[in-house]
Amino acid sequence: MKLSIVILAAGQGKRMKSDLPKVLQPLAGKPLLQHVVDCARSLGAADVHVVYGHGGERVRSTFEGQPLQWALQAEQLGTGHAVMQAMPAVPDDHLVLVLYGDVPLVRAETLRALVAKADAADGKTLALLSVMLDDPTGYGRVLRDNAGNVYRIVEQKDASKKELAVREGNSGILAAPASALKRWLSSLKNDNAQGEYYLTDIVGLAVRETYKVEAIVAPTVAEVLGVNDKVQLAELEAEYRKTRARELMLAGVTVVDPARLDVRGEVDVGKDVVLDVNVVLEGRVTIGDRARIGAGCVLRNVSVGADTVIEPLCMLVDAVIGAECNVGPFARMRPGAKLERGAHVGNFVEIKNTTLGEGSKANHLTYLGDAVIGKKVNVGAGTITCNYDGVNKWPTTIEDGAFIGSGTMLVAPITIGAGGTTGAGSTLTKSAPRGQLTLERSKQQTLSGWSRPTKATPEEKAERVQRSALPPPGEGDGQN
Ligand code: UD1
Ligand code: CA
Repeated sequence: MKLSIVILAAGQGKRMKSDLPKVLQPLAGKPLLQHVVDCARSLGAADVHVVYGHGGERVRSTFEGQPLQWALQAEQLGTGHAVMQAMPAVPDDHLVLVLYGDVPLVRAETLRALVAKADAADGKTLALLSVMLDDPTGYGRVLRDNAGNVYRIVEQKDASKKELAVREGNSGILAAPASALKRWLSSLKNDNAQGEYYLTDIVGLAVRETYKVEAIVAPTVAEVLGVNDKVQLAELEAEYRKTRARELMLAGVTVVDPARLDVRGEVDVGKDVVLDVNVVLEGRVTIGDRARIGAGCVLRNVSVGADTVIEPLCMLVDAVIGAECNVGPFARMRPGAKLERGAHVGNFVEIKNTTLGEGSKANHLTYLGDAVIGKKVNVGAGTITCNYDGVNKWPTTIEDGAFIGSGTMLVAPITIGAGGTTGAGSTLTKSAPRGQLTLERSKQQTLSGWSRPTKATPEEKAERVQRSALPPPGEGDGQN
């Protein structure tokens, strides 16, 4: 059968104590609901429906552009009522899988098994995902008869003492044929402890119609855990972190301390990669063979070539680092930074929208923006591309083999020719020719008869400060 997925996301999440709707709270850098939507997509559903209510417009606009169908549940009258809101848009011959916007770590593999169970030849099966819990407090209990067949789910608040002792909890996730689900939902009643239309009551209805009720026990507890407050959010974040670190280690990465690695996106790794402590990987990150990422680095949408070393405490965003490069410590690669093979970037160097050619070096205290830098260039300490005139951004070109003296200000647009040298401390406003030394400085002089200042009295100080003041605006200072 074709699959329709219904994600319940109408709850308010009061216990989050946040202005942000619960399903938009970030886990590993993306909204809880996005995790569920992504998982739903990976199952190849014909359509994905989201039942929304609290924070409605904000939730919808966050997912703008994604192929989702939205069903408004204006009043939260229970999980059964919530599913009902989406059903008019679900074709009768589909199978329906119900997921929860606040249960973000559910695994596609588990859901596939659940859907396969419900997709029985005679179309008369309801499949539930249950979970074995040491402490099932708060969960609905899955009740089985002596033969082990599920006959009912009872909510915590409606359960007898004996029923409360059952450790098999209801995850809430289930799959059933749409036509049957519609029929069951329409006969739900709210005569229970919470005055709600419980989705779980469809189990009893299914049994009465001689449907088979299959409960699959979730292979891991984490994948059915819901998020209700910031404590649980942090617990699931830790769980997510652990899982991703484990995946990387199984792929051959040396993770110095799995508890101190944060993976918040898609990571592709080569062989013998080393990730030191407190590394954060976000977005799409690719790391080549034998590359090493030092302690405390943040990489967001970055690729790092083979044999490259990123020293500790670097921030790399939307950058491409080639093979055999050396970066940091304390370096910042901003969007559009591109280092070619064997380039070196040292401490307190910021690079934006700039290519640093093969074997070129900028080892200390430098800003390179909107520049194209050739091969084997040496950029001296304290060099700055003055790329911004307050209104426009201008490019700088440094050709192969140039040597930029320390403290050179390159006022763009400007080109330094191949093999050219600039004198330390120069402020260059015009391009410099190839193969020659260009400098801009006053001649060095030594003054005779000069002595060091002496301590001024308060009166002398006041008088001197007074003398240094500019005339008021409009009196011949060229301003207005
Ligand atoms: C539900 C189950 C319970 C299960 C537990 C697992 C029912 C009646 N009970 O209980 O058996 O053990 O989940 O966590 O289904 N929601 C709506 N609209 C509503 C009510 C809820 O969208 O009117 C959404 C909530 O946002 C939430 C989810 O449904 O994502 C579950 O609702 P919640 O009130 O937390 O259900 P529980 O009482 O925990
Ligand atoms: Ca100067």
